[in-house]
Amino acid sequence: MDYRNKVILAPMVRIGTLPTRLLALKYGADIVYSEEIIDHKILSAERIENTVLGTIDYVLSDSTLVFRTHPEEKGKVVFQMVNFGMLSHK
Ligand SMILES: Cc1cc2nc3c(=O)[nH]c(=O)nc-3n(C[C@H](O)[C@H](O)[C@H](O)COP(=O)(O)O)c2cc1C
Repeated sequence: MDYRNKVILAPMVRIGTLPTRLLALKYGADIVYSEEIIDHKILSAERIENTVLGTIDYVLSDSTLVFRTHPEEKGKVVFQMVNFGMLSHK
């Protein structure tokens, strides 16, 4: 990914979800960062094709949505993953 001369939505925990990212792309962002996602959560999640929204969802067994992406952001989204070990040592 080339970051030179690009308008980029900064990584923002909680708010950098799909609706924010799609809005940022609509209003001129070239690259968008996902919300912060904890590594073990994405590892435990199941990948589901959401035919209603046209999204790919990563969902835990209790239905918690971990990450949702849409083809519109393909090649433009940076997946921000945090290591749980790092968090627990803060
Ligand atoms: C609400 C909020 C959440 C943020 N979450 C993250 C984050 O998850 N990861 C990260 O690396 N930076 C995070 N940041 C820092 C921003 O990505 C950015 O570096 C910072 O706001 C400085 O931006 P500026 O140089 O445009 O002022 C967050 C900032 C805000 C305001």
